[in-house]
Amino acid sequence: MPEKLGWPAMQTAMSAKQAAGNHAATLVRDGMALGLGTGSTVAFFLDALALRIRAEDLVVKGVPTSEATAAKARELGIGLTDLEQTPELDLVVDGADEVDPEFCLIKGGGGALLREKIVARAARQVVIVVGEGKRVERLGTTFLLPVEILPFGHAVTRREVAAAGPCQPFLRTTEDGSPFLTDNGNYILDCKFPDGIERPRVLHAGLSQIPGVVEIGLFLDLCHVLVEGRPDGTARVLNKS
Ligand code: A5P
Repeated sequence: MPEKLGWPAMQTAMSAKQAAGNHAATLVRDGMALGLGTGSTVAFFLDALALRIRAEDLVVKGVPTSEATAAKARELGIGLTDLEQTPELDLVVDGADEVDPEFCLIKGGGGALLREKIVARAARQVVIVVGEGKRVERLGTTFLLPVEILPFGHAVTRREVAAAGPCQPFLRTTEDGSPFLTDNGNYILDCKFPDGIERPRVLHAGLSQIPGVVEIGLFLDLCHVLVEGRPDGTARVLNKS
């Protein structure tokens, strides 16, 4: 798992995330219906988008993927909508915890995986914004795989997830030791794969069969464009072939 960053390294990481977020904001066009992802990289995107909205009088509306994103968008004056009013989105901008060479992702570090996946599925284009260090040869090698589960019977679900992996699932907790609750009132299992995830598609299919599993943080074929920021403020844009 990643080591804790010191302050200079943290600043460098934040600059790279900001570069990715800034670039993604240039992809927004007037009138677009947007999906607004969750996380620290998306927060930079929202800041840059708000500046464009003010400077260019852009009219856009966004579906937030978390309560945190909804609150930040409201603060910044970004118009919000929902999937009932706006079931088709032009563009989603979201972050990721890991990206493999096929642009398959691990997401859910912030616990927003369920809404993020629904929103991504509603969009014509999904742009993933990352700082450095998120690209991996094999998923599950630097980050635990989040799996959202129902609180009801969670010990049984955890046992089944462990066997299906096979993996070591840890119940995500808050600082006071109580279970972390998603915006949907569910729990998260963070699953450790000692050698990474060998076959993501097979794993996804297997975990999907388990009663109590609500969503899996594997995002397969859901990223069209990857924007990778660099600490010097530039960004590299890669299109899925
Ligand atoms: C939220 O649940 C996640 O999927 C985030 O998109 C992911 O953790 C990326 O977060 P950062 O942009 O903060 O690295």
